[in-house]
Amino acid sequence: MSMSREGRLPPDGLDAVEAEAWRFIEAGGRSFRAPFHSGVLGSIGPDGPNLRTVILRGADGAGRRIWCHTDIRSPKIAELSADPRVAWTFYDEPSRLQLRAWGRAVIHFGDDLARHRWQATVLNSRRIYHAVAPPSSISPVATGGLPPELDDARWTPELSERGEANFAALETVISRLEALYLHHAGHRRASFRYDASGARTAADWLIP
Ligand SMILES: Cc1cc2nc3c(=O)[nH]c(=O)nc-3n(C[C@H](O)[C@H](O)[C@H](O)COP(=O)(O)O)c2cc1C
Repeated sequence: MSMSREGRLPPDGLDAVEAEAWRFIEAGGRSFRAPFHSGVLGSIGPDGPNLRTVILRGADGAGRRIWCHTDIRSPKIAELSADPRVAWTFYDEPSRLQLRAWGRAVIHFGDDLARHRWQATVLNSRRIYHAVAPPSSISPVATGGLPPELDDARWTPELSERGEANFAALETVISRLEALYLHHAGHRRASFRYDASGARTAADWLIP
């Protein structure tokens, strides 16, 4: 990806822009070195919009789905159970490309998909799922929330398996995707819509 401050020009045509956007999202879901490896996930909370940074853990462009991982006890799960509508935003500063997506969340917990994703989760990423108290609960002291038996000396793959009890894979089924290319020669913005089966129902240039 270009590192120029000029920004990145979109490829020719809406089909190519859409393909590039999904390619970047899929790459971000595969590698921590890729742009778009983290994004901001928005849900609707009891007090209004709620945003948080999450790691993109996978994407399937053909299936119009993206995934992140979280603790089943976290407030975002309750929010998404009450209202599954979500928005995502990703920004890569070196290329000055913003990707936005909207869709519906599907919570995978204790099912085949969650099991498969847990098995693919590396040892170090499993640690946070061992927090004794639920994420967001108030603590009398500053703490990472992990029990003492999880200190480095005793942290083993066998012990890590207990974290699966709190592990959820959060799927978003994308219904709309937008790409905004900032460029000194003129910005470009494209929008794509999908129906429930993932078929594209619209592809449009927008005024940036
Ligand atoms: C770089 C970064 C990556 C993060 N990745 C995740 C993640 O993949 N999953 C997650 O649940 N929280 C992640 N967090 C923490 C969330 O931003 C948030 O603080 C936490 O999930 C609590 O959100 P909630 O109270 O809305 O449930 C990440 C935070 C940062 C700064």
